Amino acid sequence: MSELVAQVRAWAGSAQRIAVLTGAGMSAESGVPTFRDAQTGLWARFDPQQLATEEAFRANPSLVWDWYAYRRDLIAKVTPNTGHLALADFGRRHPARLTLITQNVDGLHQRAGSAGVLALHGNIFEDKWVDAPKACCKQDAAAAGRPPYCDRCGNLLRPAVVWFGEALPLQTLDEAQAAAKSCDLMLVVGTSGVVYPAAGLAHMAGGRVVIVNPEPTELDDAADAVLRGTAAQLLPALLAD
Ligand code: OAD
Repeated sequence: MSELVAQVRAWAGSAQRIAVLTGAGMSAESGVPTFRDAQTGLWARFDPQQLATEEAFRANPSLVWDWYAYRRDLIAKVTPNTGHLALADFGRRHPARLTLITQNVDGLHQRAGSAGVLALHGNIFEDKWVDAPKACCKQDAAAAGRPPYCDRCGNLLRPAVVWFGEALPLQTLDEAQAAAKSCDLMLVVGTSGVVYPAAGLAHMAGGRVVIVNPEPTELDDAADAVLRGTAAQLLPALLAD
């Protein structure tokens, strides 16, 4: 174990409150492509940042729905990696010391067994109506389609995730900010740190900030330590008792 890893492990061992902020790189070793990675196969020519917007959905609902259907399918087939499991295990051993905040919509932290995950960007397996639902809009009774729709008023279902330009769920963000401010250690794992307000949590951290990422990130300068490695390799070592 490198000296720096041992140092961060000691910080984690003595921290009373640890906040962990995860991004797409957290799930890379489970086989979920990150946003800024090249997409593969059928979707290679589409930029996720051009698909994950309300504007894109309204312009071409089937295209955006199909992209999410592809990702739902992919995510349903993968499993949490040893990084997810290490966080879940730490949370079980020390529930009062850990707040897990994620930008991921894949639900892999929850499937690994983490409780109370603050999912800033929603859940890819849930839907909501694109326009304010009327009495006729019933998700269970939506007509089949790409996307499914209300056969009375034509309202469309969309994935219940936060798209570019949309507000984050207020209470979840409040809780994440409170956890950031009150932590004495924040681990920032697998995020490029370019998307706000999530990335802003690292700047609010009350304690030390440690980056876990094989590549440089926008948050490296604000960190007390930068560990160049992957989530699945490093988290089990950092969070062992
Ligand atoms: P990005 O795709 O921007 O960044 C992924 C990060 O993970 C990069 O910094 C990689 O170097 C790093 N990475 C890759 N493999 C890794 C590994 N095995 N272990 C650790 N790190 C690894 O993803 P996010 O930062 O999560 O928003 O992107 C933030 C938000 O922008 C997403 O939540 C999404 C996106 O568009 C919305 O959907 C609103």
